[in-house]
Amino acid sequence: MNIISRLSEPKPAAAGHTAQVVPCPAGPPVLEARAIRVGLAGRDIIRDVNLSLQPNEILAIIGPSGCGKSTFVSTLNRMIHHTLPTAKVEGEIWLNGGLVFPSSASAADLRCKVAMVFQRPNPFPFSIRMNMEFALKANGDRYRPGYADKIEQALRSVNLWDRLKDRMNDVATRLSGGEQQRLCIARALLSDPDVILFDEPCSALDPVSCTAIETLIQDLKQRCSVIIVTHNLAQARRVSDRCAMFWLRDGSGEVIETGPTDRIMTAPNHEITRAYINGEFC
Ligand SMILES: Nc1ncnc2c1ncn2[C@@H]1O[C@H](COP(=O)(O)OP(=O)(O)O)[C@@H](O)[C@H]1O
Ligand SMILES: [Mg+2]
Repeated sequence: MNIISRLSEPKPAAAGHTAQVVPCPAGPPVLEARAIRVGLAGRDIIRDVNLSLQPNEILAIIGPSGCGKSTFVSTLNRMIHHTLPTAKVEGEIWLNGGLVFPSSASAADLRCKVAMVFQRPNPFPFSIRMNMEFALKANGDRYRPGYADKIEQALRSVNLWDRLKDRMNDVATRLSGGEQQRLCIARALLSDPDVILFDEPCSALDPVSCTAIETLIQDLKQRCSVIIVTHNLAQARRVSDRCAMFWLRDGSGEVIETGPTDRIMTAPNHEITRAYINGEFC
């Protein structure tokens, strides 16, 4: 019997393990997903996903490929209605105590507050300046006084200002991969988001750029909350406060365990998490 079938049912870890249970941060969550189910072509891609995110918290979503991590994060700002238009999404998403899904409110406004940074940097194929101005226009800030300062501040926040200030008319897609990703983060910051969703933000980057993005993510914690999907467990350990472990059971992605990152990495409750952390599925 291979390890996947042996571990197909989550089991609590052996009795008597010495995990120190650190309570989740108190207080109302900034973002809360309740009973999220995404159905597509007669099957549930994810089901019964309940997760909350505290202010100034970094939550890492870990788990093998195909268990619905990207699908889940794309429900949080209703991006899923673009990426999987035929999917049936059920459940509720709450942002700062207000229901944002289901909701008739603008998805574009929601995406300003719950911004997203993708696996592959996606600057628009025009100048650096226009990339930034485009984001300000989306907020209605483009023509307000001080908008140039906002652009400078956002680029400073991602440590790109000194490098780019004399190249603002260069085409953004000619920047290096790491610079493009930082530009995309700067663009997201212009809408002053409460949450930034990162879906494997470093998987297309070299290690040096990856370190820069990780440092940035930790800095972002001062101003917003972050969810990062990552296959890199060392990265999850370095940057996150809490982890949620996704797993595919009977063809559907579920969260099998959440907890403080230190505990998940050293003394997980579920045998599947332990095996995943130890690389036993390779
Ligand atoms: N565009 C799509 N069309 C059909 N099925 C999809 C599509 N995108 C994702 N899926 C299904 O959803 C499952 C979960 O995908 P995804 O959320 O990308 O997983 P993860 O991010 O954990 O690797 C995939 O295995 C696939 O079956
Ligand atoms: Mg994915």
